[in-house]
Formats: sequence, structure tokens, C-alpha cells
Amino acid sequence: ATIKAWRSAILHCTANPAEVGTDQAFEYFEDGLLVEKDGIIQALGNAEEQITLLDSTIEVEHHPEALIVPGFVDTHIHYPQSDMIASYGEQLLDWLNNYTFPEESKFADKQYASDVAERFLAELLRNGTTTALVFGTVHKQSVDAFFEAALPLNLRMICGKVMMDRHAPDYLTDTPETAYEDSKELIERWHNHGRLHYAVTPRFAPTSTSEQLAAAGKLLSEYDDLYMHTHLSENRQECSWVQELFPDSKNYLDVYDQHQLLSERSVFAHGIHLCDQEYNRLSETGSAIAFCPTSNLFLGSGLFNLEKAELHKVNVGMGTDVGGGTSFSMFNTLNEAYKVIQMQGQNLDPIKSFYLATLGGAKALRLDGKVGNLAIGSEADFVIIDKHATPLLSKRLERAKDIKDTLFALMILADDRAIQATYAMGQCVHQRDA
Ligand code: GUN
Ligand code: FE
Repeated sequence: ATIKAWRSAILHCTANPAEVGTDQAFEYFEDGLLVEKDGIIQALGNAEEQITLLDSTIEVEHHPEALIVPGFVDTHIHYPQSDMIASYGEQLLDWLNNYTFPEESKFADKQYASDVAERFLAELLRNGTTTALVFGTVHKQSVDAFFEAALPLNLRMICGKVMMDRHAPDYLTDTPETAYEDSKELIERWHNHGRLHYAVTPRFAPTSTSEQLAAAGKLLSEYDDLYMHTHLSENRQECSWVQELFPDSKNYLDVYDQHQLLSERSVFAHGIHLCDQEYNRLSETGSAIAFCPTSNLFLGSGLFNLEKAELHKVNVGMGTDVGGGTSFSMFNTLNEAYKVIQMQGQNLDPIKSFYLATLGGAKALRLDGKVGNLAIGSEADFVIIDKHATPLLSKRLERAKDIKDTLFALMILADDRAIQATYAMGQCVHQRDA
């Protein structure tokens, strides 16, 4: 067995700040030690205490000017949209038709898909994100390409084939039957294969018939712990369209509910324009919302109401939603989240936002205990942050009052340049200066 240790300032969340208060929600070691054995965290604590317990032959990597945090968790992202990021001028429905669908058609080509998947994963790791819930395209080979790229990196990743049988170009649609068969084949091949998991992925209500949503529900009923991943209530026009398409549904969420798509492993991206009934149903079923601030601002969709979600005890994680979102960086995503909350007259506490990007995301994906923090027994997925990555960051962090202020300055000023190294299961999967 190989044992390795890292000495640095170390920060992680241990509970939900909305439940226990911010000061009870995290642990911070100014001079900490993280010990890993066979990919699992063996010890975490004060360096001086921990080092006395450690075999003197064990290698200790010392980073006195860094901060170690858990790998970030991105609860909503589209890998096929990597290269169409920053597409100008449209809101959701025209953006889909003019930019997204033509780009996604290219993933019929397996080689193209593999090339994008590799660059996508490298970009996530450059930004310190080690776990993500990921959209593929309608093509089953897009999901093979993704998982084949993720497997050798030993990352905890969730992906699924898009189900879409109407209101999209012919070259991008499946049918209820082919969606069911193709998804099933992928589930058998990839679900719970190592650290990989499958998500049944109807794109959103407008692009699936009721028959197809029923096929999604059938798949979920046939396996124990599949995820369900879709979009919900992102854009006003989209919401009215859903009411026209499904006149018998009580609200947008009810369309999914009527097809048995709500469970503890269901993740809905956006959830901006929700009524109290919808918050209640999300809460009752243990479903989660992916809060995607850069996308919601870029596509002019609206402002996510985090207070309401918390009030109704709905699980929330952060999503970049690339390519509707504009950055792979969780720092950048939290920066925009802070502004979205400011626009609603509130403050997003830095510890809370750090929670949403780590343990909160892991809880939303039911992966807490495995990833999301650095508790003993969890998987050694973590990031080394360089406090001196840029002159401005370095200067600002010199005058940080405490760890909360350090965290706040990081989320406003930092980006991929501050990610010095990223580890998955104790193995280095990205090194900035390599
Ligand atoms: N709603 C349906 N499809 C999409 C998509 O690809 N991106 C976003 N942001 N919203 C969607
Ligand atoms: Fe999305």
C-alpha cells in the first residue's frame, strides 16, 4: 500500500451552513496534514499533531503558500457544448436552434466526440473540478466517448445520452423506443463501472413526447440507483411552451412528476421560475436543483432564488452549464452567483458558496461520504490552490482577515491560474506548471 501526505492550509465543509450555521459548517487547519492511502483519506488534522503519528518513511509534500480544498463538484454541464461556449446574441430557444443543435450533430462521429471529451475533461481538471453530472448528445457513442475518456483518469463522473424525440432537427432526434434501447445498452455497459454512473437524460419537456418521458420513467424503475438529469423552468418562453404542450400538467415540474421522474437522484438544471408547489415537490422527493449563474445571466434567463430553495429545504448544487454557461471555473461560477444573490438584495456567504461547490454538490448527487469533503474514509479528490497565482490575488490575500475573507477573495478573483494541481483518488491528474 502506498501512503502519501500533503502539508498545507486545508479547508473543507462538514455540514450544510444553512442548517448548522456557517461557523459550524467547516473545518480549517492553518497548517494541516492530509494523509492518503490507496486513494482514500486516512487522516486529516493539524500538521504538528498528525506528523508525530506518521511513519517517518512516508513522503510529505509541503505547500506552505497554498490552500488545499476538496475537488469541486459541477452538478450540470454539457460536454458536447465545450467548443460553442460564448455563442453571441440569443436567449435559450433560439440559442438551441441556431448554435446548439448544429454543434451537437457533430457527435454522430465517434472520433469527434472522443476528441472533445478528452479536452473537456482536461479543462475540468485545469479548473479543479473532479466530479460532474454531464449531458452527452442524442448519439449513444457520445456517451461511450465520454466514459472511455474518464475511465483512465479514475474520476467520479455521471453522464447520459440525451433523449429527444420532437422539436429538434431530424438528424438529432431519437424515438421513445430507440431512446429506451440505447440508454439501456449504455446503462449495462457503464453504470457503476468503477467510479462512473449513468443518468437518464431527457433534454427537457419540450423535446420529449409523453411516450418518451414514460420510457425514461420505465428505465428508472428498472435499476436501483440511476440518476435522472434534465432542465427545468429556465426561460419564460420555455415555461409557456411547456404549459401549451402539456395542458394537463399543474406546472412545469408536474410534467416530469407525472412520468415518475422525481427521486433522490433527480437533478434539475436552473429552476428559476418555480411556484411554491414545485419547491415543495422537489423537497418531498429529495430532488436537487443545479444553480447555474453564468448561464442564467449569459442567456438572460433570470435570477435563481436560493433563499426560497433553502426555505423549502431543496438540495442545491452549483452548475457551470457550459456552453450556455461561460466558464468551467467554479471560482468564476461562485463570483457570478454572488452577484445574482446581490441583485436580490442579499449576500451569499463565502462559506455557503464554497459548500455549494463542494459538499452541497456532492449531497445533491448523493455522493457525500465519497466526494465533496476531506473526511476520513472519503475518496482523495482534492485541489491545491496557489495563493500567489497572480499579483493581484497575492496582494489581496496578504491582507485577508480570516479564512472566510480568503475564500471570498478567491471566488471573486481566482480562476484556472490558481489551480496548481488536481488529484483524483490520490493521483495527480493535473499539474499547472507541468
Ligand atoms: N434546455 C434544453 N436544452 C438546453 C441546453 O442545452 N442548455 C441549456 N442551458 N438549457 C437547455
Ligand atoms: Fe444545460
